[in-house]
Amino acid sequence: MKYLIETIGCQMNVCESDTLSEALSDYEMLKVSNVSDADIIILNTCSVRSQAEQKAFSYIGRIEDLKKQNPNVKVVVIGCMAERLGTKIRKRFKSVDLVLGIKDIDKFALKIVNLCKFNTVNSDVLVNNTSQIISYVTIIRGCNNFCSYCVVPFVRGREVSLDNQTILNQCQKFVQNGTKEIMLLGQNVNSYKYGQTNFVSLVRDICKIDGLKRLRFMTNHPKDLSDELIELIANEKKICHHIHLPMQSGSNKILKAMNRKYTYEYYLELVYKLRTKVPEISITTDIIVGFPEETDKDFNDTFEAIKNIRFDGLYVFKYSPRPNTKASNMLDDVPLEEKKNRLSIILNEANKISSEIVSSMVGKTLEVLTDNFYDNTLEAKTKSGRKVFIKNANKDYLGKILNVCIEESKVHSLFGNIVV
Ligand code: 5AD
Ligand code: SF4
Repeated sequence: MKYLIETIGCQMNVCESDTLSEALSDYEMLKVSNVSDADIIILNTCSVRSQAEQKAFSYIGRIEDLKKQNPNVKVVVIGCMAERLGTKIRKRFKSVDLVLGIKDIDKFALKIVNLCKFNTVNSDVLVNNTSQIISYVTIIRGCNNFCSYCVVPFVRGREVSLDNQTILNQCQKFVQNGTKEIMLLGQNVNSYKYGQTNFVSLVRDICKIDGLKRLRFMTNHPKDLSDELIELIANEKKICHHIHLPMQSGSNKILKAMNRKYTYEYYLELVYKLRTKVPEISITTDIIVGFPEETDKDFNDTFEAIKNIRFDGLYVFKYSPRPNTKASNMLDDVPLEEKKNRLSIILNEANKISSEIVSSMVGKTLEVLTDNFYDNTLEAKTKSGRKVFIKNANKDYLGKILNVCIEESKVHSLFGNIVV
């Protein structure tokens, strides 16, 4: 049996797709990358913004055509949108055979296998789990923050921290199988708490794993970023110097309406602390434009904040009302054209800043971890999370920590050669 898994959404979804793939491989299912080769098509969906749901709908629409040609192919929809809409998806799309939310993900593989009335085949025709250079590990599920625009607490439920020993065992297993970098995931990793173990002690324990070279984590809610964690980032060599710290807006009025529980001044102070303690830290962020009642002045506050802070990377989204959220009861009063306009103003500025930051890296030697190889090019990442491409490279360098001299830069990326 061959399956294809298509993932829409955040790193957490990527992580959950990986977990499902691993479970399916226990049932001797083979992963393929071509839709026409698949007996089962699994779509992992996202609900955070309406655009993500539209993307899933159009993907299912395309599969419907495929299913007309090959009625035996099974279609499974999983993830946040599956959780949110449940059986409505099957009512709308007759081609969908099974809808599985996000709760009980551990049982998904079995349900999918049962759907296919699958007979086991001789195991020697199947590939083993490939080793991953970078592995994702979920440490906390759900969210208790209820930012007024966000659907996550409604679809993923309240925060649940996973057993620290299970997390450690999983990290150890990944490292034994060749993983060099681990990314810990959660909507708000800083509120991790399992028994006596908090986020800082968990990170300390994971860093002790022999053979692990790098550790990253995301996402940090600014209100919960502790001084203790900043100290740890500064002192623990394996922790990458990158933090994703969603600011969302530079206007205190909007931050309050978003229920973010911090002010712009507080956020700025955090940035200052981080840059003082960890001078080379890269700070990335998320911004929403066109939140209800965002005036030109509010937008300008965000724009000025971006110019002032000079983020290393930035994701910007047009506000879209999501079901059940507090903001969905507010008037969505910023016209779409204005949202688009604000988004492009932010994006232009962010790209300008990013270009300046990367061009200042030209001529420097940076430590990278190579994690991909194609067309004679090695793809690598700096500790700060910046992509580096090494052209005309040897595949033997894949999965290695190397020093690279940066020769050229583009808007977000760097190009360089290995320093022997
Ligand atoms: N509209 C637009 N952007 C949103 N995000 C979350 N909910 C919404 C929404 N309703 C953005 C936030 C968050 C990122 C993952 O998605 O910026 O940090
Ligand atoms: Fe959503 Fe806020 Fe929780 Fe992030 S912290 S998942 S934006 S509710």
